[in-house]
Amino acid sequence: MASPSTWFLILSMVITCHCVPLWYDRKGVLADEDSQRTGGNIILETRELEANRNLMKIKAVEMSEAKRTEVFPPSMHFFKARYLIQQSKVFKILREMPKGAVLHIHDFGVLSVDWLVKNASYLPNCYICFTDASGVRFRFSKSAPLGPLPLGCSDWVLLETYRKKVEDVVEFDNSLIHNLTLLTDTPELTYPTQDIIWRRFEEAFISASGLICYAPVFKAYTYEGLRELYDDNIQYIEMRAMLPPIYELDGTIHDRSWMLTIYRDVTKQFMEAHPDFQGLKIIFTVHRHENVSRVKDAVLVAINLMKEFPDIMIGFDLVGQEDAGNSLYQLRDALNLPSLMGVKLPYFFHAGETSWQGIDVDENVLDALLLNTSRIGHGYALVKHPATREMSLKMNVPLEICPVSNQVLLLVNDLRNHPAATLLAEGHPVVISSDDPSIFGAQGVSYDFYEVFMGIGGMKADLRTLKQLVMNSIIYSALSQEGKQRVKDVWQKKWDMFIEDLAKDNLDM
Ligand SMILES: *[C@@H]1O[C@H](CO)[C@@H](O)[C@H](O)[C@H]1NC(C)=O
Ligand SMILES: *[C@@H]1O[C@H](CO)[C@@H](O)[C@H](O)[C@H]1NC(C)=O
Ligand SMILES: *[C@@H]1O[C@H](CO)[C@@H](O)[C@H](O)[C@H]1NC(C)=O
Ligand SMILES: *[C@@H]1O[C@H](CO)[C@@H](O)[C@H](O)[C@H]1NC(C)=O
Ligand SMILES: [Zn+2]
Repeated sequence: MASPSTWFLILSMVITCHCVPLWYDRKGVLADEDSQRTGGNIILETRELEANRNLMKIKAVEMSEAKRTEVFPPSMHFFKARYLIQQSKVFKILREMPKGAVLHIHDFGVLSVDWLVKNASYLPNCYICFTDASGVRFRFSKSAPLGPLPLGCSDWVLLETYRKKVEDVVEFDNSLIHNLTLLTDTPELTYPTQDIIWRRFEEAFISASGLICYAPVFKAYTYEGLRELYDDNIQYIEMRAMLPPIYELDGTIHDRSWMLTIYRDVTKQFMEAHPDFQGLKIIFTVHRHENVSRVKDAVLVAINLMKEFPDIMIGFDLVGQEDAGNSLYQLRDALNLPSLMGVKLPYFFHAGETSWQGIDVDENVLDALLLNTSRIGHGYALVKHPATREMSLKMNVPLEICPVSNQVLLLVNDLRNHPAATLLAEGHPVVISSDDPSIFGAQGVSYDFYEVFMGIGGMKADLRTLKQLVMNSIIYSALSQEGKQRVKDVWQKKWDMFIEDLAKDNLDM
């Protein structure tokens, strides 16, 4: 027999559930949120529904395992998480998934650095010098390079000779690999601040450039880079490129037009060997620490390159640590130039890649839109600016979200707390990209999709979410309508096959 007070309790619960008007809305509100989420309006076809059920089953297993063990890769630093991610079934599926386009990736951060060390640096005539800040510089040359040594560098030594002298070549090569990436087992200790990691980040680019900017390496790097992205099931690429001078053994220097010609020719060659690959386009970039007059020059260069290479050049952007560089507002006289001249130069600005709120760099997200940017790189700060966010919706300007990059560069620790969680919940236009996968020890864009699917998107992110993100990458590319249709057709065929595999009952992964 229940006591009167228990009866009272049960009675009041019944009353609460059925009579308090707020509860009537619960299902409706959840359904509303479901439809707002990225992919919420997608209606899956029969096979896709079956594939989704399998995918979500596998995801649920990994999620409950993570809750049980409290080991959850998206909440861990990527350098520690990547081995775990490689073992994940969800990750294996995402590797197989045709991902459409990669729209935010940088020229010298594409190809795994193993190739640079194990292949490029073994080519004849490769010299190395060691800086007093425990860095390295490379230069190919017929005899020891003449002219002033790089800042803080020892004398040049032929790498072939040097390798003969070192005791453990494997260990030495690993140290070179370390120079070209940010990888470490102790990221918290090695990179205590954003300024420190950005300095190492740019240092890695400078070290790599001695290898990549050698003409034969540049050509091979471009081809192998396309292969690495293609192997990650990417159909099309828009790449930011600084187009630095490229050198030959005899000291000949090639200019930007030569580079764009090579990008075009190598891409063509790659597409002949891989007819289902849909191409590479270039966004010319300049460092944001340059002053107004230098950025003006760069804008004019971009305008000319657009005329000279309409088939491969698509626009302009600024790169480098936003907090340390000039804001878009400070550079406005240079960036307004195209509209004053009445010429078209599409912009793809990095903006709001900062934790600081209320300073001019944080306002880059607004200024990027006022400059009619086609997309926003990162836009990490956007959620703090409601009016700007509204504007990006009205202008249909998507954000390029690069989760691994944001975490490694110390904007966020636990990726469940990435601001894109809010944007995905609202169905704000976003695409997923990888920024500089090789420097972070990643490949292609699969790791970023994993972080989004498991961490940022939460338990409810499903096949619809993924499909929408992939379609966004095509929709928000700089391609013409016909170009987008071509990529979509190729992608759709691959997608159907992917779904067929995933829908099979016996998942053999
Ligand atoms: C890189 O070097 C490895 C080992 O020598 C070789 O098997 C591979 O074919 C090379 N790759 C390229 C692209 O040169
Ligand atoms: C770069 O390589 C040199 C030569 O092996 C090594 O002494 C140095 O520690 C490396 N630096 C980094 C940051 O890994
Ligand atoms: C801009 O920078 C360049 C090179 O860094 C320098 O030569 C030039 O004097 C600077 N211009 C102004 C107006 O500060
Ligand atoms: C904004 O950029 C788009 C894409 O480049 C262009 O078509 C459009 O004319 C631009 N609008 C203005 C007002 O400049
Ligand atoms: Zn970037």
